[in-house]
Amino acid sequence: MQPINNPSEHRVLYYGRRKGKPLTAARQDVVERLLPRLKINAPPSGSTLDPQSLFPESIKEIWLEVGFGGGEHLAAHAETNPTVGIIGAEVFLNGVASLARHIEQKSLGNVRIFNDDVRFLLPALPDQCLSRVFVMFPDPWPKARHAKRRFIGPENLKSLARLMRAGAELRVASDHPVYIQWVMEQMSAHPNFEWGAQGLKDCLNASADHAVTRYQLKAQKEGRKPHFFRFFRKVG
Ligand SMILES: C[S@@+](CC[C@H](N)C(=O)[O-])C[C@H]1O[C@@H](n2cnc3c(N)ncnc32)[C@H](O)[C@@H]1O
Repeated sequence: MQPINNPSEHRVLYYGRRKGKPLTAARQDVVERLLPRLKINAPPSGSTLDPQSLFPESIKEIWLEVGFGGGEHLAAHAETNPTVGIIGAEVFLNGVASLARHIEQKSLGNVRIFNDDVRFLLPALPDQCLSRVFVMFPDPWPKARHAKRRFIGPENLKSLARLMRAGAELRVASDHPVYIQWVMEQMSAHPNFEWGAQGLKDCLNASADHAVTRYQLKAQKEGRKPHFFRFFRKVG
């Protein structure tokens, strides 16, 4: 897959898949009807976006899901947490269409969608605006020479540390042994996060409120063991 160049000054590269099969007529229809209302436009470089302004006044806190895939996990959390506004970022248009369908079926008013690389959104968000971040089954990029492409890494963690308020939770899940090890290394090296577990065996069970993701189901069917990490933004 060819990397896509970002017009921004930071020249971020995205390596994953953006377009898959063309949208079916039904998916195209739901995207055309819902996206104009739900879409977060890419903020101009150097601008600030108050995430609270994207949601109705009833919204008390903001969560972010990076790479929501089919959106089932995000939609389930939005349904059970109606006073939380959830921003979902996904580059893959078929995933956006799938989330839009869930939003419509569940009549959710607390979801907004960034249909692009989340790294174009993060710089515009203000400090300490997020109470929870989900990174569920990020692309593992298992080859050592691709390690820089992994979402959990120094640059993105620096952004998340700035955006997450003290005590905010970062949930990361992975089924890939290389990525599981990588997450432990990256997170334990980071001064602003603490791990909410004693060891890896504590990560075999998801939180009580976890919603199963499409990728998780596939991994489990194929005999792989998902690990669920919970990290917390330290004070200061
Ligand atoms: C392996 S899939 C997992 C999808 C979903 N979380 C699940 O568990 O079923 C990873 C997803 O992250 C998306 N993704 C990867 N990097 C991203 C980025 N920088 N910004 C937004 N989405 C991203 C990809 O398009 C892909 O859909």
